[in-house]
Amino acid sequence: MPQSGLILVAALSGRAIAQAVARTGAVVATLDQFGDADVPAPARRVAGDPVAGFDGEALIAAARALAPPGSGLVVGSGFEQAPELLAALLGAGPYRLLGNGPEVVRAVKDPAGFAARLATPGLAKMGVSHPETRTEVLEDAVPGEWLIKRTGAAGGGHILPWNGGSLPGGHYLQRRAAGLAVSVAFIADRSGKCELVAISRQWADPAPDAPFRYGGAVLPAAVPQSLAARLAETARRIAAAFGLAGLNSLDLLVDGDAVSVLEVNPRPGATLDLLERHRLGGVMRAHLDAAAGRGWSLGPPRPGVIAGAVAYAAAMLTMPAGFAWPPWCADLPRAGSTIEGGQPLCSVTAWGGDEEEARRRLSRRIEHIVADCARRGCLVEKTGPMEKTGDVVPSLQC
Ligand SMILES: Nc1ncnc2c1ncn2[C@@H]1O[C@H](COP(=O)(O)OP(=O)(O)O)[C@@H](O)[C@H]1O
Ligand SMILES: [Mg+2]
Repeated sequence: MPQSGLILVAALSGRAIAQAVARTGAVVATLDQFGDADVPAPARRVAGDPVAGFDGEALIAAARALAPPGSGLVVGSGFEQAPELLAALLGAGPYRLLGNGPEVVRAVKDPAGFAARLATPGLAKMGVSHPETRTEVLEDAVPGEWLIKRTGAAGGGHILPWNGGSLPGGHYLQRRAAGLAVSVAFIADRSGKCELVAISRQWADPAPDAPFRYGGAVLPAAVPQSLAARLAETARRIAAAFGLAGLNSLDLLVDGDAVSVLEVNPRPGATLDLLERHRLGGVMRAHLDAAAGRGWSLGPPRPGVIAGAVAYAAAMLTMPAGFAWPPWCADLPRAGSTIEGGQPLCSVTAWGGDEEEARRRLSRRIEHIVADCARRGCLVEKTGPMEKTGDVVPSLQC
């Protein structure tokens, strides 16, 4: 394959990955569904939606326009419900994949196959299990004890309590487990090396129709050393079992000594901004090297704790021109973008000496930016389907 120095980033929301790749000194081009103002150029917004994913033809046409054959390819969310689209995108360059391939993604995201692979005595002996998972409704299932989840989805918005109804295509049931939500970020390579990057504590920001909608995360979480070692070993075994490469994360529930593995995110995920700041020199260089089969190492952890969350818009608004975003905001909607109430406005981060301080500052910042946008953004009348988009440019006279 010819080599190109460029790295193509493709993700539903590509800003965090693109900025991290750019910080390594690489030339980056980005395809995503938001086209936010802080995505490094060149970038293209690709049609699709967060549930259906990318419009495959549009994605491939945009990739060919931006990235020559032989470019590197780093993907974020958007391919786990459609690993075949990842295969098609790779072949369309062809591009050099810097991450997990379509077969690995398919294996990790197949609910029954994932559950079967995790049912190993090795994990059970460590007190690590996986909530019972079913791809059909059986007579003995009691509503209230089960959640319904969409295969390959992310962001928690797809998870609902099961009310006893039938199971729509592409969904599965998972037994509710107890515990605090924790995520383990790790970097692995195909030689079996696997290092813990950080353990984060995660929280939901429930919406009326989405009780598990992603809220934010704080890292490094203060967890006992013995638990941290057990979680790192769990990640190492799962990485080896599936052949994971690069930066991945493992979402879990921790209930005393009992650990339930919920899922693997086989790509840089929602905590990337936090990990980039937590490790001296960032984590993207190690991701690129580990995925490409080169030697890699992680910088040491920096002091302090970093929290990050999604700020959701309080009501529908249109971003005015010249809005002065504070430096702690990212994923910035362009002037003229319309954001529906309850949809992501931007991402916010805050540093603190400990988890409590970081989260307190984060909450204040979220309140501030949501109120500021509500005050200065034009409230708009709903005239049709709206989304956070740079393509809709209504009047800025507000
Ligand atoms: N089986 C479960 N039992 C209890 N809570 C769950 C379960 N599955 C998911 N959740 C809740 O939903 C959140 C997101 O779950 P996850 O499986 O990671 O979905 P997503 O792929 O959308 O991130 C978890 O942090 C947890 O709070
Ligand atoms: Mg998750």
